[in-house]
Amino acid sequence: MIIDELRIVGSTQTNVVMEAELTRVCQKALNRRPGKPRKEGLGQLVFPFEADLARVAVTYLRTPTRVVWDVYRSRATRLEPLFEELMEDIRTDARGLWRDGDGISVEVRRMEEFAAGERQVVGTVKNALIDGAARRGVRLHVDADRPATRWVARLDDKNELVVSIDLGGGSLAHRGWRREAGEAPLREHLASVLLMLGRFDPRSEALVDPMCGAGTIPIEAVLMARGEPRLVPALERIPVLTSKATPASSPAKAAALWPDAAPLVVGCDVDLEVLRSAKDNARSAGVVDALTLQRSDAITLKPAVIADIAKERGREPPATGLILCNPPYGERLDEYDLTEVYEALATMCARFPGWRAGFITASPLLERVFYGSIGQPRIKKPMANANLRAYFLLYDL
Ligand SMILES: C[S@@+](CC[C@H](N)C(=O)[O-])C[C@H]1O[C@@H](n2cnc3c(N)ncnc32)[C@H](O)[C@@H]1O
Repeated sequence: MIIDELRIVGSTQTNVVMEAELTRVCQKALNRRPGKPRKEGLGQLVFPFEADLARVAVTYLRTPTRVVWDVYRSRATRLEPLFEELMEDIRTDARGLWRDGDGISVEVRRMEEFAAGERQVVGTVKNALIDGAARRGVRLHVDADRPATRWVARLDDKNELVVSIDLGGGSLAHRGWRREAGEAPLREHLASVLLMLGRFDPRSEALVDPMCGAGTIPIEAVLMARGEPRLVPALERIPVLTSKATPASSPAKAAALWPDAAPLVVGCDVDLEVLRSAKDNARSAGVVDALTLQRSDAITLKPAVIADIAKERGREPPATGLILCNPPYGERLDEYDLTEVYEALATMCARFPGWRAGFITASPLLERVFYGSIGQPRIKKPMANANLRAYFLLYDL
């Protein structure tokens, strides 16, 4: 069956945040709000497919991990009827999903329940695409390394097989700016999720990460504030999505949505080596001059330090801001050391009345330590980080 849906996929518990980000970005880029999505599970939004919405989602959204276009669905439970149905759908599909001579790749996910092995499903979908397109006079071939379009087949919650085009051409969590990882880097899209959960307002607030490691949160804060686009060559290879002004051979980089945004963003860490990585990453992201990275122990941070940084940048000291941090969880520290780290954070936070402080941690210790001096979190949200059950905690200071 031919279907036509745009699916925005993120980590579990993030669909409210993804919807909020999409609304913000659509209002700026398209001058309208997106329609109401169907929510699937805790991390997927599904919309009727619109080319404009797809372009904006894949170019500007920072909180999802994938944006895909669901194009075919089949209830077939064996390979032969699957091939026949898919090929017939593709033969009659006039949407312009490919160009003559395109290379394609096919991958499968969540296929454990299907009555054939993954490689057989890949082969069947690939053959159906090539044979079906050939019957429309379009030649496709397999190019696993540099495909024009990446196809994904997966079983959905009803165990129906859905075939999609991965519009981002792979995981959107990898922005391409990371040169150095540091010890326990936060995935880039999660940093953006935390910025949204902490309701960072780059127009009026400062952003301070007191344990910034390789710089993921500060770098994403600047990129998100500017609405920096992603260059997505895959989009330009799909005729129906190609912007009329852009020839397919030279994909143009879209413009930033808020190019003049210049929030005060500060990243600190005790480890000089890791700060060097943060600087390399910031340079590769094109934001090295837009943020301040400095060596300091969290326990020494106070508003006067941030005011001095603001002054050096020719700015007024911020009246308020968001402290946002992915502190150590205890994987490499014992409970005593971890308590000390969290006490340092609590002491520091107490010096920033009127600010908010958000943390992602997999250890219950942080909440316990903060309960004594700061109080209860306004928001406590379960999240996954690097396969650990973690929580996002947001405090009003
Ligand atoms: C989990 S890592 C942060 C990773 C970071 N979010 C990233 O994406 O790379 C925790 C960081 O806290 C730093 N750290 C630990 N204790 C600190 C302290 N007292 N003051 C400042 N930084 C500290 C470590 O050096 C480490 O880089």
